Amino acid sequence: LWTPSNIIEEAVHAVREQTGDDEVLLGLSGGVDSSVVAALLHRAIGDRLTCIFVDNGLLRQGEGDQVMATFARHMGVRVKRVDAETQFLDRLAGIEDPEEKRKRIGNTFIEVFEAEAAMLPGVKWLAQGTIYPDVIESAGAKTGQAKVIKSHHNVGGLPERMRLGLVEPLRELFKDEVRKIGIELGLPAEMVYRHPFPGPGLGVRILGEVRKEYADTLRRADHIFIEELRTAELYDQVSQAFAVFLPVRSVGVVGDNRCYEHVIALRAVETIDFMTARWAAHLPYPFLDQVSRRIVNEVPRVSRVVYDITGKPPGTIEWE
Ligand code: XMP
Repeated sequence: LWTPSNIIEEAVHAVREQTGDDEVLLGLSGGVDSSVVAALLHRAIGDRLTCIFVDNGLLRQGEGDQVMATFARHMGVRVKRVDAETQFLDRLAGIEDPEEKRKRIGNTFIEVFEAEAAMLPGVKWLAQGTIYPDVIESAGAKTGQAKVIKSHHNVGGLPERMRLGLVEPLRELFKDEVRKIGIELGLPAEMVYRHPFPGPGLGVRILGEVRKEYADTLRRADHIFIEELRTAELYDQVSQAFAVFLPVRSVGVVGDNRCYEHVIALRAVETIDFMTARWAAHLPYPFLDQVSRRIVNEVPRVSRVVYDITGKPPGTIEWE
């Protein structure tokens, strides 16, 4: 019988069998899958789980603190937060090509993660939040970006290089099942039902070169959009919503002054499988108006807000 508590019980048992008395390492991203793995493994093996949370400087506003609050403070999971913002931004300086940016972000992640793991010589296993759709994708059912996504997301190749065995307790589960298990394990609904967030983070939502000041601007604008969606109870009515930073400048008037500042695009989509998507056509104009006003008034160096009305295809969900 499929119930969340049965599945948890079985998984806990399997993980204990597999790992014995060994130490296990997990790269915690704050996304649903790795979060559920963290909660599950914590239940199964307690302090023999160590999580590494890499703050790459490309996270959403308050995200790092939230991850630490939920896991370290609230649940007592052993989590090490690594502040690697400077390292990531240095590696991205001057780089405009989207694929090159993705590659550098992925490689830097692996470098940081490996260096941290080297400080934990007792570890024998690497846990990953691989879910059933990932297994199918990497078996070659889909090509192109699915593979790119997967390779970044689940740090492909790393376990062999680090000589670690793999622990993948969610391998047979679909996303909705993973969510139910997360709730049963006591994770906050807000975390479990969060919109997906790409591995490269804001790095693919800042068009062209990534700079710290752009990331800060984007974080503030994105936070306003998400906060307003939640307040208006629209958050759960879209599949994914976020702001994008456009490094172009446009003329505006603020008070009596002419200004010449950056542009923020708002993206909201509805989709079942993220392979195709419709732009969210039901967000009320007064709602969009409120978001736009708040962004221009509260976020320095932004003078214009636009709403993306492109479906997928032809547009992708992310802008890069
Ligand atoms: P696109 O932009 O391809 O996005 O329509 C489809 C879904 O995948 C997410 N996405 C990524 N996730 N690494 C990830 O982990 C990536 O490089 C990446 N690129 C896109 C995107 O947010 C959307 O949910």
